[in-house]
Amino acid sequence: MTASATDVLFKPFRIGSLDLPNRIVMAPMTRAFAAEGIPGEAQAAYYRRRAEGGVGLILSEGTVIDRPASRNDPGIPFFHGEPALGGWKQVIDAVHGAGGRMGPQLWHTGATKSFMTEWVPDAPVESPSGYDAPDVPRGEAMSEEAIADSVAAFARAAADAKRLGFDVVELHGAHGYLIDQFFWSGSNLRTDRYGGATIRERSRFAAEVVAAVREAVGPGYPLILRLSQWKQQDYAARLAETPDLMADWLQPLVEAGVDVLHCSQRRFWEPEFPEIDGENGLNFAGWAKKLTGATTISVGSVGLSGDFMAAFGGEGSSSVGLDRLVERMERDEFDLIAVGRALITDPDWVSKVRDGNAGELKGFDAAALGELV
Ligand SMILES: Cc1cc2nc3c(=O)[nH]c(=O)nc-3n(C[C@H](O)[C@H](O)[C@H](O)COP(=O)(O)O)c2cc1C
Repeated sequence: MTASATDVLFKPFRIGSLDLPNRIVMAPMTRAFAAEGIPGEAQAAYYRRRAEGGVGLILSEGTVIDRPASRNDPGIPFFHGEPALGGWKQVIDAVHGAGGRMGPQLWHTGATKSFMTEWVPDAPVESPSGYDAPDVPRGEAMSEEAIADSVAAFARAAADAKRLGFDVVELHGAHGYLIDQFFWSGSNLRTDRYGGATIRERSRFAAEVVAAVREAVGPGYPLILRLSQWKQQDYAARLAETPDLMADWLQPLVEAGVDVLHCSQRRFWEPEFPEIDGENGLNFAGWAKKLTGATTISVGSVGLSGDFMAAFGGEGSSSVGLDRLVERMERDEFDLIAVGRALITDPDWVSKVRDGNAGELKGFDAAALGELV
């Protein structure tokens, strides 16, 4: 692929007052190398290399809010407490020093287990109803106090991100973790105002988090919310079976203060509602943009032949062309594209694409997960 063939990926973009030099976002990827939950020089160097390699916007690995059981792996970094926040300051300063832009992905893992470890937190695991998935009880159902404290902890973390100098904040509302466990009827069986038969009702927790975060960071500060239909507990799960239901799900979140919907798919080229617009129809980010008018990010197997869940089973993936991505971006289906594994393997992936050096792109080797380079 020549450099000009991918021009559309290198058109600048603006989110609120933030200027991005291109459309490529580094997807948030847990690496679990933070000893005692504190990021440091190794993480600063890792993210700085992706900034030097030309990534338009870097999203950090999931980093957890201040709740006793907010993480499911002891290598996941905290986004609270002075030692961890000091480490994150080192990270953002390094990224800015290389001319990059970055935001943390704020996370609470809910009742979901890690793929990598059997470790459990000291405090009881918490989730909307004490379920990880349908008929899979795990941990405690959250009290109203626990919910209110979690909302406040997300807001504090977002305020800290802004104070440290991060350019954006992303909330992890996808993949079956805490926020998504509220969305999903399979794990939210509550009969109070955080539960209900409809997706609109089950979105209340997320909307409260978004509103509290918006209040904490003020107007104009870019706020991204990551969402997915699929859950790691069930790839076939769907929160919205129709565009109308998708609007019920997304519109209140945008109204609560989200600027950017980060629509997670395992393969970006898969149509969301093929029964409506065919096999080459809009993907999740395409529908989200059409239904809400918000900026959207798509993701899923960009430049690679196989999807990412296989990576946790040690599977690699070979490099493939970007034609299908370029085609969708040229028709303005979504605004930004996130790239995950290709950027783990190769910090210079973006500059190679920009310079038309497609021949130098590597596939993904799961061994790359063993170290932070
Ligand atoms: C090692 C690894 C860790 C991941 N951790 C996270 C995470 O912390 N938060 C998240 O939202 N997604 C996470 N993901 C999903 C990625 O953000 C991305 O959506 C997925 O890898 C698909 O993109 P890709 O096919 O370009 O790799 C992870 C993926 C990988 C491979």
